[in-house]
Amino acid sequence: MTAASKAAARAAVVCGAGAALPPHIIMNAELTARLDTTDEWIRSRTGITQRHVAGVDLSTTDLAARAAAQALADGQPVTVEAVVVATTTPDRCCPATAPAVATRLGLTGVPAYDLAAGCTGFLYALATAAGLIATDTARTVLVIGADRLATLPDPEDRTSVPLFGDGAGAVVLRRGSTDEAGALGPVVLGSDGTGADLIQASLPGTLHMDGADVFRHAVDRMSTASRQAATAAGWDVTDIDRLIPHQANSRITSFVARQLGVPDDHQLGNVGDVGNTGAASIPLLLARSAADGRLGPGHRTLLTAFGAGLTWGATTLTWPDLSLTRLPEGAGHDR
Ligand code: COA
Repeated sequence: MTAASKAAARAAVVCGAGAALPPHIIMNAELTARLDTTDEWIRSRTGITQRHVAGVDLSTTDLAARAAAQALADGQPVTVEAVVVATTTPDRCCPATAPAVATRLGLTGVPAYDLAAGCTGFLYALATAAGLIATDTARTVLVIGADRLATLPDPEDRTSVPLFGDGAGAVVLRRGSTDEAGALGPVVLGSDGTGADLIQASLPGTLHMDGADVFRHAVDRMSTASRQAATAAGWDVTDIDRLIPHQANSRITSFVARQLGVPDDHQLGNVGDVGNTGAASIPLLLARSAADGRLGPGHRTLLTAFGAGLTWGATTLTWPDLSLTRLPEGAGHDR
């Protein structure tokens, strides 16, 4: 086997997807009772109508484990050899979330670690998982994005509270070939610490965000990263059948689609039903869309995200046939 064919046989291939949302839903109307805002303002500026919020009885570990269990149950049968959890809201600073999730799934002993890259965390996790596969560290990796962002803002902050929700999403990656459906293309990643103050949080109730600046950066960075990822994969942006952008705000994602020239009906979204779920956003949308058929086998799919850091990223894959049968718990869909 040549070095090139060996590398081609160590691509990371998606073979399962799952999601979990807390059952408790907070509608905009509930927020208008305690904040100086209106349902109309929130819908028109963000596209959000409701968000799922975890109570004290539902931790980031719980959500991550549920999404992962569904990804394993609904995908092709595999033996997981590593677990990566992307989160900015772990239950504790130390230890990491991933070992606990692995143990819940009966995977004690496998390598398991967290990484934090804001709302771009899932794409960073995909890249590191692809690295684990390429280096033969693991043949199958569970990649989870899980966040509980709903309680991060000051409860009185009308600019941030309506935006965020809680949830988790997961995909299973296995070793495969670059030419098969599900194989990840090159992952484009970036960061800019000069924008660290634009979105920051230290403890619950202390999230601060410069909304308008974040908006502009999000559109620019996701559009540029998407073009770069498409080019790196050998695609033209007109090849994109499904655009899966991080779900922060439907106006941001519409701008990104417009800048790329991706038609509205090729862009998938669920921010209206779940709000901004951070690192969970993309895998939650992937699992939901695959389950309801909006994302189907053969669709050339582009994933892109932006978040605190600042961080951003994008990658491509042709969606595989996962034969998903069940809808993720309580997950909704905008279009
Ligand atoms: N209800 C009513 N008015 C609100 C409000 C709310 N929930 N939140 C803010 N406002 C007010 C502001 O106080 C401001 O009032 P002023 O003009 O009297 O000062 C006015 O609405 C306009 O604020 P602005 O920030 O310019 O609005 P916007 O159209 O930019 O929308 C965000 C605000 C936060 C929705 C928008 O900037 C945004 O989505 N940014 C990105 C946030 C994000 O996604 N972060 C995570 C990235 S991963």
